[in-house]
Amino acid sequence: MEKTVHMENHTGNNQDKYNEICAMLASITEGVPYTMTNLANASALLNESLEGINWVGFYIIKDGKLVLGPFQGKVACTIIPMGKGVCGTAAQSDSTLVVPDVHKFAGHIACDSASNSEIVVPMHRDGAVFGVLDIDSPLFDRFSKEDEEGLEQFVKTLEVVI
Ligand code: SME
Repeated sequence: MEKTVHMENHTGNNQDKYNEICAMLASITEGVPYTMTNLANASALLNESLEGINWVGFYIIKDGKLVLGPFQGKVACTIIPMGKGVCGTAAQSDSTLVVPDVHKFAGHIACDSASNSEIVVPMHRDGAVFGVLDIDSPLFDRFSKEDEEGLEQFVKTLEVVI
């Protein structure tokens, strides 16, 4: 019996799938002028659309720190200093971080011990970093280049309504 779990099983045809998810996001956020409302539905949409994940949500910059926003998953840490953890590092450097094995990322902040890989994508408002999208997976190496591009496309769609 083949024991390897191939990524295709978890992500399907990624480009088409992310186009569909982004179209759904645009549809559910259209005409909704409330940031928290749109972030809440965005986290729910990703949670029901992506397989092999155990946490998805947002940290928003307040008073120079990342503060927990809408999410789906287990209770998480509430405040992450800029430059700390995967989230704080991605926010400070304003770059997407894909971590195939969180146990090898120095300074990783463990919220759910089940998490083994993670992706963090910075979000912008008025040209500056506003917060991050954070997704955890119990699988190692869950997030492919296509996931990275698809989730950056998702964040661009979200940036229009936050
Ligand atoms: N792992 C993150 C902390 C947030 S939780 O994963 C929800 C980090 O290292 O920044």
